[in-house]
Amino acid sequence: MLTFLSAHARTLAPPGRQSAVDLTREAAAARDAADPLAGFRARFTGTDDEGPDRLLYLDGNSLGRLPVETPAAVARVVEQEWGRGLIGSWSSWIENATRIGDALAAGVLGAGPGEVLVGDSTSVNLYKLLVAGAGARPGRDVVVCTADDFPTDRYIVAGVAAARGMTVREIPVDIDGGLDPAALREVLDERVAVVVLSHVAYRSGALADLEGITRLVHDAGAVVLWDLSHSAGSVPTELRAAGADLAVGCTYKYLNGGPGAPAFLYVRRDLQEQLRQPIWGWFGQRHQFAMGPEYDPAPGIERFGVGTPPVLAMAAVEVGVGLVADAGIGRLAAKGRALGALTVALADEWLAPCGVALASPRDPARRGSHVTLAHPQAWQLTQALIDRGVVPDFRTPDRVRLGPAPLYTRFVDVWDAMARFRDLLAGGAHERYPAERGRVT
Ligand SMILES: Cc1ncc(COP(=O)(O)O)c(C=O)c1O
Repeated sequence: MLTFLSAHARTLAPPGRQSAVDLTREAAAARDAADPLAGFRARFTGTDDEGPDRLLYLDGNSLGRLPVETPAAVARVVEQEWGRGLIGSWSSWIENATRIGDALAAGVLGAGPGEVLVGDSTSVNLYKLLVAGAGARPGRDVVVCTADDFPTDRYIVAGVAAARGMTVREIPVDIDGGLDPAALREVLDERVAVVVLSHVAYRSGALADLEGITRLVHDAGAVVLWDLSHSAGSVPTELRAAGADLAVGCTYKYLNGGPGAPAFLYVRRDLQEQLRQPIWGWFGQRHQFAMGPEYDPAPGIERFGVGTPPVLAMAAVEVGVGLVADAGIGRLAAKGRALGALTVALADEWLAPCGVALASPRDPARRGSHVTLAHPQAWQLTQALIDRGVVPDFRTPDRVRLGPAPLYTRFVDVWDAMARFRDLLAGGAHERYPAERGRVT
C-alpha cells in the first residue's frame, strides 16, 4: 500500500558537493556563543548536563521538553486555585481557552484575537472543523487530503466522508519532497468542499506554501483546513496574512505543553458565524449558565468549544506558549533552519558513505525544523542511537527523524549527536539489534 512512496530517498550529497558550513565542533560552539536564543535553554529541565555522555534529545517534534516554570505553574493551579479557591476559581478558568488562544494567535500563529481556541485534541478539533467546513459548502461532495498525511488526519477525513456520503480524493505526494501544488491543482474542481493539508509534513518535514495553496483552494471555491502540529512554534504560519480558513494543531511538540496537552483550533473571524461544528456541547453555547432548553451557538470562537476544559493541563500550555512567543517565531524558524542545515551537512559528510540518504527537502527554506534520514536498518539504528543517548524517532518505512527543537537545542548538540551516529554506523553495533519493530510512537 506504499505505492505512492517515492522510490526511495536520494543519496545524500550530490557528487562534488562541498559543504558551505564549517563542520568543526569549534564552529558549532561559536554559533552557540552567538545564538540570540541561547538563554532559553536553561529554562528547560534536563539541559544542565554538559558531560560528553549527556542525553542528546532530538525529538522535540514529538514531545517537547519540560519548561522549568511548568511544575510551579501547575502546582499553583492545583494548590491555590483548586485547593483553596475551589469552585470559586471557575471565574478565571472559564477564560483559559480564549485567553491562551489569543496568546497563541498573537505570539505564534499570526492570527487575530478571538480566532484561536485551546482545548480538545488535534484529532477532535480536526473532526469539528472538517464537518463545519463541509457544511459551509452545501452541494459539494468531495474532501481532498494527501496520501501521506498523518494517519489521524486521513482517518478522520475518511470517517467524515463516510458519514456524510462524500468522496475522498487523495493526492499522491513524494514522501520526501512533500506536496506539489500542481498535483493539488489537478484534483480541485467545483465538487471539492474542503482540502485538509499539513503545513509541515510529519515524516519528511517538507514545508507547504501556506499562502499560495490557500489561494489555490479559494480559487476553486473550497475551504482549506491546515494541520499545524509540526509548524506551531517552529515556523511562521501567518494565518491572517494568508487568509487561511481553518487550522488545528497540537501543543505538546514545539510548544512544550506536555504529554496529552490540549490542542488548538483556528477559525478565521469572518467565517465563525457561518460555521456550525457537530459537537453541540454546553461550552459552545451562547449563554452557558442560562441552561437553556436548546443549543444556540456562541457568537465567536467559543462556539467551537465542547465541554469542560482540562484546567491543569492548560496551565502547562500557557507556560509553553509564553516561552515560544518570547523567543519569537522568526528567530526560532531561522535557528531551526540553521540546525537542520548543519544536520544535513554532517549527514552528507559522515553518514552518506555508509548508505544513509536524505529523506527531506534539501533546501532549508522548504523544511520545518526536522530532518529525516533514510537507511534500510533505520529501526535498528534508532534503537541503538537511543541506547547511546541520542533520541530521534523512527518513522515508516525506513526513516530516522531528527527534530532539534530550536528553543533548547544547541549546534554542539547536533554535532555530538551526529558524531555518535557516525561512530555507530562505523562500528556496526546496530546490526546486533533485532529487525522487528516494537511499539512505534
Ligand atoms: C500532523 C499531526 N496531526 C495530528 C497529530 C496527533 O493528534 P492528537 O493530538 O489528536 O493525537 C500528530 C501527532 O504527532 C501529528 O503529527
